[in-house]
Amino acid sequence: MLRRGYKPKPWSGAQNCRVSLFLLFFILVLALVLFFLIFHNNSDVENPSLGYELPNNSFDSLVHLHPRKEFRNETDLIWQVPESPKGVLFLAHGCNGRAINFWDKSPECPDCIGLPEERLLVLHGLAQGFAVITISSSQRCWTFGKEMLVVKDIIEWWIGRRKLEKLPLVALGASSGGYFVSVLATSMKFSSIVLMIAEGMFEQMDIKGDYPPTLFVHMPKDLYRQQKIDEYVQVLKDKGIDVGVVECMEFPLLPNTLSDRIPGFDQAFSRKLFDFFQEKGFIDQNGFMKKDGRQIKWKKALEEKKVLLLDKHLVPHIQEELNLAFAYHEMTSVNSDQIFKWFESHMS
Ligand SMILES: *[C@@H]1O[C@H](CO)[C@@H](O)[C@H](O)[C@H]1NC(C)=O
Ligand SMILES: *[C@@H]1O[C@H](CO)[C@@H](O)[C@H](O)[C@H]1NC(C)=O
Repeated sequence: MLRRGYKPKPWSGAQNCRVSLFLLFFILVLALVLFFLIFHNNSDVENPSLGYELPNNSFDSLVHLHPRKEFRNETDLIWQVPESPKGVLFLAHGCNGRAINFWDKSPECPDCIGLPEERLLVLHGLAQGFAVITISSSQRCWTFGKEMLVVKDIIEWWIGRRKLEKLPLVALGASSGGYFVSVLATSMKFSSIVLMIAEGMFEQMDIKGDYPPTLFVHMPKDLYRQQKIDEYVQVLKDKGIDVGVVECMEFPLLPNTLSDRIPGFDQAFSRKLFDFFQEKGFIDQNGFMKKDGRQIKWKKALEEKKVLLLDKHLVPHIQEELNLAFAYHEMTSVNSDQIFKWFESHMS
């Protein structure tokens, strides 16, 4: 194909020069093709949002959870400080979220729920050496009046008491928590922030040049947010603020996705559930969710099929993974590598 299109014109140079030019051109094309192939393969491995390989989330030997739970300013905070911490990470949940969603049920936190993506963000954070603090919003979603002051108070009080003032402070907020963090960043000094599935409140704020470096982690299937984020990326860049974007794509469910990502989830049950979802047409023949997990009536369908008995406690966990696989609007830990790289590269 390449040769057919290549018609050397009569040219006044020496014959051997023409031959070596042709050779050079040929080698260049070959090199480009090779480069593309290698780069393409690598990017599938390195960028989990593009490939179907979910990251290895085995923390068994790395992190031991011993969270502490406290009550202050009429809300819950749950936190853990690893040995020799290098930074402080505040995690803000979305609407309907609570601090207990981030931590596994344990003797220290018997009412903790440990939702799959939330807990993995905590585990990644602790494994990377961050002291992690989570706080519950006072209402269903975060609010932007007094609650700003309350959360600032709690974080500063806690940092002071744990003597972590010298460490860089970073924050990650998802959805409602993302809007909240985007505003909190105007009254607290963060080294950098991550806004997940949220475009932030940049229309309502007067952004100064010292606004922290901001990474948007979003799901482009949500077109409205995708457009808003494009807009705000430009707004922030124009003010000289460092901005990054990570896009999270849908991925196919596998028979063991649920048991791989939800601690204590039986593998055989995971496979049966996968088969059932396929049989019901909730997922296509390649394992992709056809609709958002919130839109399909999978719980009702399961109740009707009486042979598959589901532990009711696991409903939010399954729901979250189904939403995540569809990749429209959900908390995600799939891009933890990029998230923590962002924090690490803005620690000063
Ligand atoms: C995941 O990582 C852990 C700890 O690094 C390792 O022991 C385990 O073999 C890995 N599992 C897979 C499937 O790669
Ligand atoms: C939070 O609680 C502390 C201690 O009770 C109190 O001093 C502080 O004013 C409270 N902050 C807000 C914003 O209410």
